[in-house]
Amino acid sequence: MSVKTESLFGKAYLAFEEKLPFLIDELENRFGVSRSELHFYGNLVYLEKDLPNLPYWCSTVLLKPVLLHFQSIGEAADALKHIQRNWASYQFTLFRRAALIQEKLPYINTKPKTYPFEIPQKPIGCWTLLDEHTALYSAETSSYLPCGNLEFVEDHENPPSRAYLKLQNALVLFNSFFGRMPKAGDVCFDAGACPGGWTWVLLQAGCPVFAVDRAELTPELMTNPAVTFMKHDAFTLKPSELPDFDWIFSDVICYPERLLEWIKMWLAQNSEVDMICTIKMQGETDWNLIEKFAQLPDSKVVHLSYNKHELTWMHCGKK
Ligand SMILES: C[S@@+](CC[C@H](N)C(=O)[O-])C[C@H]1O[C@@H](n2cnc3c(N)ncnc32)[C@H](O)[C@@H]1O
Repeated sequence: MSVKTESLFGKAYLAFEEKLPFLIDELENRFGVSRSELHFYGNLVYLEKDLPNLPYWCSTVLLKPVLLHFQSIGEAADALKHIQRNWASYQFTLFRRAALIQEKLPYINTKPKTYPFEIPQKPIGCWTLLDEHTALYSAETSSYLPCGNLEFVEDHENPPSRAYLKLQNALVLFNSFFGRMPKAGDVCFDAGACPGGWTWVLLQAGCPVFAVDRAELTPELMTNPAVTFMKHDAFTLKPSELPDFDWIFSDVICYPERLLEWIKMWLAQNSEVDMICTIKMQGETDWNLIEKFAQLPDSKVVHLSYNKHELTWMHCGKK
């Protein structure tokens, strides 16, 4: 047996699909890392030093990276199996060899999920081949999803827009962080609701929805008795003019500054409300501003698999 391991300093960050430029921007401009410090393995970025926080634009982080030197496929698989059961494979080269190693590891389900889906709270490692005889792995990662990916089986018939996937993704993560989802009867405010993907998801959960947009929802939603629609600027409506809400959502396209003020207004009125809002990134990212979202009490900022050039802010209201 000629297997050798070598623990590395720092961490390796796996960028979301097609989001590597955003991760690099975050490492450089949020954390002040210089480009020359980064080592690229496809979408996986290794940095020899630790950062004060985990970046948003990565689907998972290899928290304790180790180099594995091996001769044969069997040796590599045995070495990983010996450490733990669950391993997800991220590959950027030598795909056939990597597939043969992964086939020898216990099965993990990487198929698209049907919503609602509960993320299993079981550790899952991540590994990649660097060359024929070297793998980079970490048994500990920052996500319980394989490579941090969440993909849903899509409904091409019923939802009025693909934006429904973003809310489903957000709710699955909200549930894994805070342990709840909207339940039947919860009163929801959907700001920037047109054409109605988010409203549709909430209706499926049995929630009455108060939807606000400058444009109307699809006709089916406009005539749904569980939907109250208001054609209005969502940001000029005062909490006192509206019903009490269990959940507040915003997918409004606006400057993050404006969203932050709006969120603070709602939290000042009712800190017990659960909230999920899309932060639309406009031009260069103002990292100090994003930090202000993250610093709000009982909040989290994440990037979702179904986010575009966006981050999602979540607030857990009820204790
Ligand atoms: C990305 S779309 C929302 C998609 C929606 N979540 C869905 O699932 O179908 C953004 C929406 O924000 C609306 N919007 C932009 N500014 C607004 C404002 N100040 N008040 C209300 N809606 C606004 C736009 O009209 C647009 O329909």
